[in-house]
Amino acid sequence: MKMYTISDAVCCLHADIETTDLFEGIWPIPRGVSLNTYLVRGEKIALIDLFCDWTNAAAQIREGLSSTGADFGVVDYLILNHLEPDHTGWLREFRALNPRAEIIATAKGINLVKSFYGIEEGLRAVKDGEVLDLGGGVSLSFFETPNIHWPETMVTWEPNSGTLFSCDAFGSFGALGDRVFDDAFSPEEHDFFEGETLRYYANIVSSFSAFVERGVQKLAGLDIRCVAPSHGIVWRRDPRRIMDRYLRYASYARDGGEREIAVVWGSMYGNTRQGLDAVIRGIEAEGVPHSIHRVPDENVSWVLADVYKSAGLVIAMPSYEYAMFPPMAYALDIFRRKHITGKTVLRIGSRGWAGGAKKEYDAAVEGLKWTHTEALEWAGAPTAADLTALEERGRELARIIKG
Ligand code: FEO
Repeated sequence: MKMYTISDAVCCLHADIETTDLFEGIWPIPRGVSLNTYLVRGEKIALIDLFCDWTNAAAQIREGLSSTGADFGVVDYLILNHLEPDHTGWLREFRALNPRAEIIATAKGINLVKSFYGIEEGLRAVKDGEVLDLGGGVSLSFFETPNIHWPETMVTWEPNSGTLFSCDAFGSFGALGDRVFDDAFSPEEHDFFEGETLRYYANIVSSFSAFVERGVQKLAGLDIRCVAPSHGIVWRRDPRRIMDRYLRYASYARDGGEREIAVVWGSMYGNTRQGLDAVIRGIEAEGVPHSIHRVPDENVSWVLADVYKSAGLVIAMPSYEYAMFPPMAYALDIFRRKHITGKTVLRIGSRGWAGGAKKEYDAAVEGLKWTHTEALEWAGAPTAADLTALEERGRELARIIKG
């Protein structure tokens, strides 16, 4: 059964998406993702956020809905906090089943209903702070929270249960199975979801970190007793835990991240790897936590998560045809698009002919406000002197990160 009671008036319905499809067409979700929707009952009935029909999501939600004695036809208001198609892809099908429900979103959201789905009737744009009375003492309020994750985004608030329907905000990757509430998961399962929350944040939300901080600040006056996102765990025991986690992640965009080092490397024949091993010896000698990611072997989704989190980076790659090692060029392009700013960075690598990685690298990271320690390139295999210098470069970076 995929129906979970939050209060007399509010329940969660969810679909687990387990697919080889990529989230947003980019990010792997090997452990799935959940699409959560919420039913709120007063005298009128509201459904908050929809879904796309990945892996039979419609049937999963319908099963949860029917267990409450409802179906899509009884919905009076469909509230769309955010129009990205993972939450709205089934809108035309919903409309065919229920032509009378009023579709509610911000004014920008209503424009997207029209442009994505060609629906022109039965739409209502709500303003920041507007209240929708469902009757029977139940009401919903809407607060604009632009750019968490798209410009049209809002959150919905149900004051009796203190539930914040936050859509993408406070969400994560990871399928939920037959539980949704934070108090139903073991510490080990929470560890898993913490990792998937960071990856989700870095992949989807990180560019909008200033808006996350602004949004949380805006909602500070609400007595939030349940955080109900549209991806991942519903936080009724400790809603502050996920909000604080998001605020910590948002702070990385301002202060560079945790006192850790993410090593991102690629090597053609092992010469860059040999030099990198010396750098890692230096980092380990200083006792700074570090993660190691080889491109292209590891998908950039996971690389991005640790790079976003870490104040220090090592970028290790050979020159390739007078330019950067292509998989590193792709990773750096993703970092640039995701505004991965404020890092302290050591770049190293082997060159075969005349080099060339540096010129392309400098252009790729321009504008990211990265502080570079002294780079080291060498011809072919690193000499003993190179290895000594590389180990010292690793120590130097680690000492800076330790502070
Ligand atoms: Fe889950 Fe931005 O959509």
